[in-house]
Amino acid sequence: MKYSRLLVLGGTGRAGRQLILEALERGYQVTALARDPAQLSDIQTQQLQVLRGDMTNAAQVEELLKQGFDAVVCTLGVFQKSPGTPLTDMTRHLVSAMKKYGPARLVVMSSLGVGDSDGQGNLLVKFVTSRILKHVLVDKASQEVVLQESGLDWTVLRPPRLIDSPTRKPYRLWQGTARPRGTRWRIGTLDAASEMLNLLEQDDSFHSAWQCSY
Ligand SMILES: NC(=O)c1ccc[n+]([C@@H]2O[C@H](COP(=O)([O-])OP(=O)(O)OC[C@H]3O[C@@H](n4cnc5c(N)ncnc54)[C@H](OP(=O)(O)O)[C@@H]3O)[C@@H](O)[C@H]2O)c1
Repeated sequence: MKYSRLLVLGGTGRAGRQLILEALERGYQVTALARDPAQLSDIQTQQLQVLRGDMTNAAQVEELLKQGFDAVVCTLGVFQKSPGTPLTDMTRHLVSAMKKYGPARLVVMSSLGVGDSDGQGNLLVKFVTSRILKHVLVDKASQEVVLQESGLDWTVLRPPRLIDSPTRKPYRLWQGTARPRGTRWRIGTLDAASEMLNLLEQDDSFHSAWQCSY
């Protein structure tokens, strides 16, 4: 395992919790930042350290990264009904701290519909991404630009709708504007979280974005 000390951001969320569990299962040493650490208090193992913090606080983010990690895995998300860049702003804090204190390796969960996956999905997906998630996706697109300009060893995973599924199923993984046939435009949180860790360990995934779906 190349990156054994992981910092997980967004670990109290749906995908993030699965990511923590899967990382522990795979033997990583995990530190999770949480606004409310109690949300992770049911996961009791010496492999997991949970620290209180808020990604909107740049000073806290710097202090956190000073601890030293091998890689950062991020499933942060902010739902918003109006224009704004909360996710981009948090990502700027993260990138700035990583450039000062390391590490260089960063895997981020974005969303189908961002970048060259724009327009992918069925009619329902397109409706949701263009209407309900409109402002979220604008923020995510700008988050991806921050990553692209960061100079870090970033990789992005763009899932479609996440479903809470603790079982593993085969899924497709693709890049760019290709539109695989027969795609169901959803993926379980466990499979999406697992793919984040698969991508993490693949050095040939530096500077690339991937879509995944059942
Ligand atoms: N859900 C979907 O169907 C779907 C589909 C495609 C892509 N995505 C994307 O995939 C990612 C993960 O999705 P999800 O459904 O797991 O999201 P989620 O359940 O909403 O989790 C978001 C996480 O971000 C954390 N967070 C937000 N603001 C923070 C702050 N200021 N400081 C520290 N932590 C903060 C939340 O912490 P708190 O617990 O403290 O709020 C939570 O842990 C998101 O980027 C989402 O947009 C989701």
